Amino acid sequence: MASKPSVQNLPVEHLTLAQAKKEHVRLDLEIGAHDQRYYQDDAPTIPDAEYDALRQRYEAIEAQFPELRTAESRSAKVGAAPSRGFAKVRHAVPMLSLQNAFADEDVAEFVRRIRRFLNLKEDEPVVFTAEAKIDGLSMSLRYENGNLVTAATRGDGAEGEDVTANIKTLKEVPQKLEGKNIPAVCEIRGEVYMTKPDFLALNQRQQAAGDTVFANPRNSAAGSLRQKDPSVTASRPLHFFAYAWGEMTEMPADTHSGMLKWLKSIGFQTNPLWKLCKSAEDLIAYHADIGQKRASLDYDIDGVVYKLDRLDWQQRLGFVSRSPRWAIAHKFAAEQATTVVKDIDIQVGRTGALTPVAKLEPVTVGGVVVQNVSLHNEDYIKGVGADGTEIRGGTDIRIGDTVIVQRAGDVIPQIVDVVLDKRPETAKPYSFPHKCPACGSHAVREVNLRTGKEDVVRRCTGGLICPAQAVERLRHFVSRAAFDIEGFGEKQVEMFFAEGLVMEPADIFTLAKRDARATKKLAEREGYGETSARNLFAAIDARRRIELNRLIYGLGIRHVGDTNAKLLARHYGTMEALQEAAAAAQIPIDKKDKGNEAWQELNAIEGIGDVVAEAIVEFFQEERNRDALARLLAELEVLPMQEAKSDSPVAGKTVVFTGTLEQMTRDEAKAMAERLGAKVAGSVSKKTDYLVAGPGAGSKLEKAKEAGVNVLTEDEWLALVGAK
Ligand code: IVH
Repeated sequence: MASKPSVQNLPVEHLTLAQAKKEHVRLDLEIGAHDQRYYQDDAPTIPDAEYDALRQRYEAIEAQFPELRTAESRSAKVGAAPSRGFAKVRHAVPMLSLQNAFADEDVAEFVRRIRRFLNLKEDEPVVFTAEAKIDGLSMSLRYENGNLVTAATRGDGAEGEDVTANIKTLKEVPQKLEGKNIPAVCEIRGEVYMTKPDFLALNQRQQAAGDTVFANPRNSAAGSLRQKDPSVTASRPLHFFAYAWGEMTEMPADTHSGMLKWLKSIGFQTNPLWKLCKSAEDLIAYHADIGQKRASLDYDIDGVVYKLDRLDWQQRLGFVSRSPRWAIAHKFAAEQATTVVKDIDIQVGRTGALTPVAKLEPVTVGGVVVQNVSLHNEDYIKGVGADGTEIRGGTDIRIGDTVIVQRAGDVIPQIVDVVLDKRPETAKPYSFPHKCPACGSHAVREVNLRTGKEDVVRRCTGGLICPAQAVERLRHFVSRAAFDIEGFGEKQVEMFFAEGLVMEPADIFTLAKRDARATKKLAEREGYGETSARNLFAAIDARRRIELNRLIYGLGIRHVGDTNAKLLARHYGTMEALQEAAAAAQIPIDKKDKGNEAWQELNAIEGIGDVVAEAIVEFFQEERNRDALARLLAELEVLPMQEAKSDSPVAGKTVVFTGTLEQMTRDEAKAMAERLGAKVAGSVSKKTDYLVAGPGAGSKLEKAKEAGVNVLTEDEWLALVGAK
């Protein structure tokens, strides 16, 4: 596949200053977005190894172009700022991060640097504590006079989230420190984690209940801890290993290993794998040894940590930006294996997203059998993003390809490369289906609202009939702003769907008729009796008369929420008119194409843009949706929209704007007036209530004066609507 050279693929050494600047900004944004997803949403989208690579490149750029380093630099930040919802806690001593070592040479350099810094003689021994690096989330526990007073997450290193109530539910966190010589203030730090078996069991329960499924034990630990309700945290099996500290009014030991023993003696769990090492060779051997044990451990680790043992020396070495000079994390290389892509399957998600999944010849990667790997989307398979950026160096993935699979961050496997030498001659580029495999409706890629770019996701447009989306759509159909049928909520949707009684909206309205003929009647079902069944049917009947806007909203057309549904209802007046317009509209094929009249009319509705208009047209042009809608309409009487009574003084009034407006554009003024319930007209007539006249107003102003219309300046208008 032809590869476009892009700055992203150039080695840092080859970058010009201008290119480096661009890369620095790009990486900064990308790392920031990943930090947000990892630290705040507990839902990372890339493996840790890939994140580390981004960060390494970012730091390499700053090393080569120091002028790009500022106080705002990522290299001076740790993690992400605390998320909203929890109170903030300022850490008495900042919670820092660790520098990473990936190669053995980095470890040797770490030891040399420390020796140089401390100016140690060649024969002077240096001792390190080597520990496992637990893949959980770090926590700071503050004890005053032996009592646990606050527990806080790391947050951005300076401020974290107050999770005290939740932490108190962990058995392994003592609420009171027992033992002699407990310092008046002690901040104990360590890692909250979930074991691998507990994580798998939790995910099974979550999946069965239709709740969030976590990507890995770290995310499930973080998600379990960040609960508004501590009883939820209490129900999750969380553990804690102590390995560090913050503020201490006294130090109970003078080495790190001594501190680990003390932590154990006062009731904390410490990880038993720690060991004292005397040289870089010792450290590297420890890394290899723990690497061997990794798969058989009960919990995830993503590397090992080396810490200079003597605390007085740690003090002398101090910190550089976000990490201590006296410690380093030696990460494990991501594990890889080679296998063959047997097939590519398309799965349809609840929102209609088509996700390709590679079916692999089963292969063991890091002790786990992998046979399915998500290929994310169409562009990912092609190896070229919509903006031309390359994935895997621009190589596409084909059925029959030999691929390298990687499992990083221990759980989510992915394809990192294709072995082109082994590509069978018969292998053809994968052609992504344009039809939904679940229902046969056409599947489209829309233009992303925020970026203006084509969305990477191809989506099924058969919203009303696609079985993969049915439950979600039915739920939406009965929701508050749509049909809002009393006694027919999400639970009932799921029950009736599972029983095959309600598969599409129209079925709701034929339920009573079918029930009358059925052998097993609703009234005989668990949870129902004669009265409740009758009530349900009456509630359904009551909603046969439905306002147009609610009906439009209930259809679940993409991007058509409550507001857009009202705009459409107001503009077209009837379902037939909307359907006709959508059927007649031609979606423009490129920027120069303006589309036909029906398209322009739809697109000209204030508040409806290209993306929304396109989704509407796609929806109504899908025959299966039209059929399902016809079945539904046969059951309904559609009423005109009830305009909400607005308390705005201009609601229901007709306004004309003329002349130059100085504080807003004409379009803005028009949108504002309409938002407040006013009608905006193009010319002055007897019906005009207000003429808003700016400088340069001409004939309209004359006419308004003659007709005795209220004339306002822009300022007076703004004052009238309360915007000034
Ligand atoms: S020491 C000032 N020891 O790794 C250094 N950290 O990448 C304090 N971690 O934020 C950290 N196991 O969440 C240390 N044995 C260990 C660790 C460990 C896991 C985490 C911790 C830290 C991150 C740094």
